[in-house]
Amino acid sequence: MSNNKKNEQLEQFKTDDHGKKMTTNQGLKISEDEFSLKAGTRGPTLMEDFHFREKMTHFDHERIPERVVHARGYAAHGEFECYESMKEYTKADFLSEKGKKTPVFVRFSTVQGSKGSAELARDVRGFATKFYTDEGNYDLVGNNMPVFFIQDAIKFPDVVHAVKPEPHNEIPQAASAHDTFWDFVANNQESAHHALWLLSDRAIPRSFRMMEGFGVHTFRFVNTEGKGSFVKFHWKPKLGVHSVVWDEAQKINGKNPDFHRQDLYEAIDSGNYPEWELGVQIVPEEDEFKFDFDLLDPTKLIPEEDVPVKIIGKMTLNRNVDNVFAETEQVAFHPGHVVPGIDFTNDPLLQGRLFSYTDTQLIRLGGPNFHELPINRPVCPFFNNQRDGYGRQTINVGQVNYHKNSLANNTPEPALPTEGGFEHYQEKVEGRKVRARSDSFKDHFSQATLFWRSLSDVEKQHAIEALSFELGMCKEKSVRQQVVDMYANVHLDLAQPVARNIGVDVPQEGVTGDGKQSPALSQENSSKLPDT
Ligand code: HEM
Repeated sequence: MSNNKKNEQLEQFKTDDHGKKMTTNQGLKISEDEFSLKAGTRGPTLMEDFHFREKMTHFDHERIPERVVHARGYAAHGEFECYESMKEYTKADFLSEKGKKTPVFVRFSTVQGSKGSAELARDVRGFATKFYTDEGNYDLVGNNMPVFFIQDAIKFPDVVHAVKPEPHNEIPQAASAHDTFWDFVANNQESAHHALWLLSDRAIPRSFRMMEGFGVHTFRFVNTEGKGSFVKFHWKPKLGVHSVVWDEAQKINGKNPDFHRQDLYEAIDSGNYPEWELGVQIVPEEDEFKFDFDLLDPTKLIPEEDVPVKIIGKMTLNRNVDNVFAETEQVAFHPGHVVPGIDFTNDPLLQGRLFSYTDTQLIRLGGPNFHELPINRPVCPFFNNQRDGYGRQTINVGQVNYHKNSLANNTPEPALPTEGGFEHYQEKVEGRKVRARSDSFKDHFSQATLFWRSLSDVEKQHAIEALSFELGMCKEKSVRQQVVDMYANVHLDLAQPVARNIGVDVPQEGVTGDGKQSPALSQENSSKLPDT
């Protein structure tokens, strides 16, 4: 592990208190740590007791806010190895050479529950990877399902409010089985596809080691000639994909709410290192409009039959963290952390994510200097004219902290092929400013139907039972009915048995196209786009 640059960097920050004599934070040796300073053994504590004050104040400030989503998570260190040069498609250095190794840090998470929630909840799992490349940090902030609930980032606060515990009673703590979540789905039917994945066995994985990961959005590879290709990212677990059944999940949650973290920790601790292969689906730019869905729509996947997944490397997790707070909790992932050769598309969900992560981390990690935290530091040098702020650790020397200047030779670097500075992909964009979505995003059910058809009979039965359980927990009959009616558009073999199980009207046929028109949807769909 000695050639892992990130491990070497982290070593400098470690401290081991074994056998050391205790001091205050000012280095003063302390002679007693059990009793506060009092006026007489039975008298009041004295204000003068700096040792007590320091110890208590630090304790009082030990907690930071949990992540607004993905609060419950667990992480490990490892290494990514490139199988073959991807230079034809991307100038990303870490993908440029067969055998090239890059340190990684991966955090797995549930989305909905709080930091202390049980790990076998029916939920999406986060799968976030930080590659510490020689050109800076690249974060692939993915999930274990290939699609997302919404198409536009402006709805993210809504979907998260709907899935989190209901505000009036904070129930349920960690489950999607409640009125507000299913009311959201029925009234925002773009969620139908992802919600079906949530009803499938993928939502109750056997182990983090047995989960796929997906970048979800269509991203862009860019090569040294400036040529772009669309790309979807996949992680494929070497152990295969495995789930538990709902009955097992509930029992495990009761007996061991730490089941997934313990499984990961113990596997790594015993040298049984989990592995995933990284796969890409590459679509040439010329083929952008060859699909019956929009590549920019994050509620859609590219079927692997249409564009096969090309395996390009392998990730091995081989070291547990030394300190969960310092590493797992303080790590800051961001889909906007890219390297030359990897770029964005105009997926409206991705575009909004590019704002949200730094924004939340500014409060979660206490100000603008969290990039200096050991776990977040790139392994390559980093420099700019940003200065000061809460918790600043770097001592920038010299008088120059501005650009342009003639006093210090600190300038940006031109883009490759000369020096390697990042240059945004020069995509041509034009159109009117409109608050609307493209007609090409309107089919909410075809891929959900494809997914339903791809399930085995046993998996279908699990999904029927899952939806019956979930809707059975909803108190409002109108919500139950709306969801069943919506799923009639996906498949009657799903909607009808669920309707019978939960005592609502059994739908006889689905409505094609955009599905049942809730008031919100009809309004939304009436916005026809002018010549964009
Ligand atoms: C975490 C926002 C969609 C994957 C987060 C966090 C926020 C956020 C605020 C907490 C970050 C932190 O405190 O460090 C959003 C917004 C989205 C969105 C606004 C859509 C508009 C997605 C999608 C994926 C995803 C589509 C998967 C492809 C994750 C993961 C984490 C996360 C894995 C946890 C990262 C970690 O382990 O620290 N998201 N998210 N999110 N998000 Fe998203």
